[in-house]
Amino acid sequence: MTIKVGDKLPSGNFNIMTDDGPASISVDELCGDKKVVLFAVPGAFTPGCSLNHLPSYTNLADEIYAKGVDTIACMAVNDAFVMHAWGLDRGVEDKITMLADGNGNYSVALGLDNDYSNFGMGVRSKRFALIADNGTVTSLMIEEPGQIDVSKADSILSKL
Ligand code: BEZ
Repeated sequence: MTIKVGDKLPSGNFNIMTDDGPASISVDELCGDKKVVLFAVPGAFTPGCSLNHLPSYTNLADEIYAKGVDTIACMAVNDAFVMHAWGLDRGVEDKITMLADGNGNYSVALGLDNDYSNFGMGVRSKRFALIADNGTVTSLMIEEPGQIDVSKADSILSKL
C-alpha cells in the first residue's frame, strides 16, 4: 500500500556516508521530533535527477530551512558510496543529507518502488517528495512517470 498524508512513516534504515565509512541511520533518528523534507529520485547521476531535481533543492535549501525545516534528505536506491559521490559532485555540502536505500527496502515500505528495468536500472524508487512532521506525513507529491514537477523544491516550499 502506498503511503499517504496522515500516515506515520514506516520504520526502516538508510545508509549514510560518515568519516568512518557507511553507517546506518534509522528513520526514527532522521525524522523523530523534526520537520523533514524527504525527496526521492530514481537514481544518482541520471540527467533529470542530477541536473534538475537535486539542484532544485540545493538552490532553495536556505528558503526551505527558513520555514522551520530541520533536515532536507535525498533518497535513492543506490549505495552510500554512490550517494556520497553524487552529493560531492553536485555540491550539496551539508544542505542535503544523502540517503542510500541500497536494497530498495524503504522504497518498498513506502509503496513507492518502481521497476526501471527498461532503463537497465532494476527496481528503484518513484520520484516523489514528502514533508514529515515528527514522522507523520503532512504533504506528499508523487510524480507521474517521466515528470519532474510537483516534487521539486519550489513545490515543496509552497507547502511549508
Ligand atoms: C533521469 O534522467 O532522471 C532518469 C533517466 C532514466 C530513468 C530514470 C530517471
